[in-house]
Amino acid sequence: MPTLKKTYPYYLANRPVAANTDLDVRDKYSGKRVTRVAMADGVAVRKAIVAAHKARGAMAAFPPHARRDVLEHCVKRFEARQEELALALCIEAGKPINDARGEVTRLIDTFRIAAGEATRIGGEVLELAISARTDGYRGMTRHVPIGVCSFITPFNFPLNLVAHKVAPAIAAGCPFVLKPAAKTPVGALIIAEVLAETNLPKGAFSVMPCSNEDAAQLIEDERIALLSFTGGLVGWDLKARAGRKKVTLELGGNAACIVDADPGAPLDHVVERLVFGGYYQSGQSCISVQRIYAHADIHDKLRRKLKAAVAKLRMGDPREESTFIGPMIDEDAAKRVERWIADARKAGAKVLAGAPRDGNMLPAALLEKVPRDADLYRKEAFGPVALIEPFDDFDAAIDAVNDSEFGLQAGVFTGRLDHAMRAWDRLEVGGVVVGDVPSFRVDNMPYGGIKQSGLGREGVRCAIEDMTEPRLLVIRDASKA
Ligand code: SIN
Repeated sequence: MPTLKKTYPYYLANRPVAANTDLDVRDKYSGKRVTRVAMADGVAVRKAIVAAHKARGAMAAFPPHARRDVLEHCVKRFEARQEELALALCIEAGKPINDARGEVTRLIDTFRIAAGEATRIGGEVLELAISARTDGYRGMTRHVPIGVCSFITPFNFPLNLVAHKVAPAIAAGCPFVLKPAAKTPVGALIIAEVLAETNLPKGAFSVMPCSNEDAAQLIEDERIALLSFTGGLVGWDLKARAGRKKVTLELGGNAACIVDADPGAPLDHVVERLVFGGYYQSGQSCISVQRIYAHADIHDKLRRKLKAAVAKLRMGDPREESTFIGPMIDEDAAKRVERWIADARKAGAKVLAGAPRDGNMLPAALLEKVPRDADLYRKEAFGPVALIEPFDDFDAAIDAVNDSEFGLQAGVFTGRLDHAMRAWDRLEVGGVVVGDVPSFRVDNMPYGGIKQSGLGREGVRCAIEDMTEPRLLVIRDASKA
């Protein structure tokens, strides 16, 4: 049975550093300290930026096949260490072991996709002979690495949301400095350990847990060409401080799912998917199902089945195979969701399923008649809770989904092609998923939101586009002039 090491170093310019200022990492289920992680100080962060800046040329010259080989090495090593990685997630994030294993397979997918993309970064041939003046001129573009990238990642997918920044950066040829979430740094440090086994040019990567004050350099330093942040709405403040650098933000949502009169699938299947989408890893995902709009024809039946399914969800130790609901990341998070449920209830909502909180263990909850101005309706819950509401008219359901400051992904269960197309036309989100919940994501698809949900798209190819810029070559063929 794999276990966590007693300590983990951070990585500065490809090399492990065992510093003194340790960060305690706790088992989110037992609350006990399970390991200590070295923390970088402001001087180390500056050194990492300087090293990455120096490595720009070497990374750009590191051939595509060598970048692919690095990424393929990672795939092999992650495959060999799958159970250890899953256990790390289970302990440091409190992620139920089945979800943790699922995340490890996605980590492997993301690196594998990036390995494929590394040798496919192409360009365009341009016809420039658009008038007699330009006879004999041809143009072509290729995509060159943008330069140093800084990455800040959240606690909820300690491996795969790190992978979504690191793997495209390697494929694109960009050196980077990454700050993982303080509550879940181990996943990123194991990725760094594997990267340190490769022949990436010196300075190509640094992975450093550090304080927010020291991380300010990752936001403000002008040597950094791109900042990619996944986390809360604070991302918009970071953008305001980022100066001239390119910024990508993935900031969450309060995802909705429409279930039409004809859902296009058996209701039991819809319920199964809603339960997954609303409650896996305790709803701590930016695309967790928070709002369910059910057509009046099927509403009562769906409500009954969903209520029964939610009430049955097994809560407990995330290491147990049978656990579906594990701990939330900390007690404050659980208290906040509990308060939002209580506030909604005071304002007239009815709790169909749910039970009292115990520390950071919050049982799955389902509510109806939640007022539109309740926090539970309007904000991002990021917890094991969803609300259900009936609708009569499909367009009204679309309006209800759009009545949100967020716009990441939406799900639509419908058997009608015209409704599917209408949803795609009208839903104000980055992605519409027909026939499944908004929580569905494959790691090669464009992923990101509009409105408060963010800026730009991830998904390996989209991230590579952001991490490169076109460089034009113009050639004059004198014989044709
Ligand atoms: C997120 O929470 O934004 C990531 C969701 C996912 O990758 O499935």
